[in-house]
Amino acid sequence: MFSKETYIHRRTRLKKEVGNGILLFLGNAESSMNYADNTYPYRQDSTFLYFFGSDYAGLSAVLDVEENKDIIFGDELTLDDIVWMGTQPSIREKSERVGITEIRPVAQLEEYLKKAISQGRKIHYLPPYRGEHILRLFELLRIPPDQQAKGSSVDFIRAVVNQRNYKSAEEIEQIEEAVTISANMHIKAMQMIRPGMKESEVAAAVTEIALRDEGNLSFPVIATVHGQTLHNHYHGHIAQEGQMFLLDAGAENRMHYAGDLSSTFPVGKRFTERQKEIYNIALHAHQTAVAALQPGLMFKDIHLKTAATLAEGLKAIGLMKGDPQEAAQAGAHALFFPCGLGHMMGLDVHDMENLGEVWVGYDGQPKSTLFGLKSLRLGRKLEPGFVLTIEPGIYFIPELIDRWKAEKRFTEFICYEAVEKYKDFGGLRNEEDYLITPEGKRRLGKYVPTTVEEVEAMRS
Ligand code: GLY
Repeated sequence: MFSKETYIHRRTRLKKEVGNGILLFLGNAESSMNYADNTYPYRQDSTFLYFFGSDYAGLSAVLDVEENKDIIFGDELTLDDIVWMGTQPSIREKSERVGITEIRPVAQLEEYLKKAISQGRKIHYLPPYRGEHILRLFELLRIPPDQQAKGSSVDFIRAVVNQRNYKSAEEIEQIEEAVTISANMHIKAMQMIRPGMKESEVAAAVTEIALRDEGNLSFPVIATVHGQTLHNHYHGHIAQEGQMFLLDAGAENRMHYAGDLSSTFPVGKRFTERQKEIYNIALHAHQTAVAALQPGLMFKDIHLKTAATLAEGLKAIGLMKGDPQEAAQAGAHALFFPCGLGHMMGLDVHDMENLGEVWVGYDGQPKSTLFGLKSLRLGRKLEPGFVLTIEPGIYFIPELIDRWKAEKRFTEFICYEAVEKYKDFGGLRNEEDYLITPEGKRRLGKYVPTTVEEVEAMRS
């Protein structure tokens, strides 16, 4: 936990920025997996963590702007809870650690909000993303589930985003730790993979590293020989000589900050010549993106520049044709790169995605609906303090190739006859995490071997 002054400062600033009403925070409860007492690993809501530090289940909080009150609502553990789950600090202890002295039982939250509503005061709440929050908002505010997202407070969302998007020095230290643990996961995978090994063995080994130091995974591991499926969570294939292995995995450290890295490496000792060729095109695009990172530039433009670099590389080997910039502007590159160049990262791996990408990644501006660009989670002008991923890739998705070819899409840019021969290729990406600094950027965490030579050296 950071010092109590950090949390007091964050809450004071938030109250000032929203400027009126009651700010309602619903912390996360335990969530059942397959029966009531068998729960998913507990994870506190990230905005609750950011302003109240406490990662215990069952807490809610209110910041009352007019009355300048910070209140935590929670119930002490029963003896039964303690018998089964062990003890915890009291709610008072949890609250005082973050500078809050007013504590009330959960049962008083509804009454507190009702009174405020009867006085005509505004209750600001954030868009719910868990079923339990939806039910709770209905209980507390009587807002029907299908109207809750629409009724959430844009002022509250924007004020939260305005703080959480700019990482402080103490947060960057935490993120850097998470990225270094993530790097160790990738280095382990690169060293251990062998023909005949099951994908799940790699997934298990990297998970162990994430959990070892009281951390967790920051998202479900992608460990696959079928890298063309962007979020491939199946781990049942046997890795074969001649295939590439794509790992997209990250750790969440003790303080719940995320790392998110991807790497692609040969299952055997060496890449094939064809793999090297595609790998180097993606790597060059990655380096182009990194070189372009600096405050003041629109991330969407860096995405398009990277897409044009990919198109240029693919043109050089006969898979694309025409002007690469025009191909990228039109969206033709999305046959091979149908996703975004990167996203914000912090307490969430896709930071604050629950608050709306349009606020977090686009500063309230509309997001493109074009295939490819619609999956770009970050498009706004870069500013110092932003932490983001850079993750261009090249994917040969047979179903997508067949569809586009049948529809004769972008025939001025795509050489479908040549692309046909790559339908068995799979997909690859590398991913690193960067901080935008006043001067440019800084890569966070330990370096993961990236060039063909560096990766092959790990396999010898
Ligand atoms: N690395 C997983 C994701 O960005 O969704």
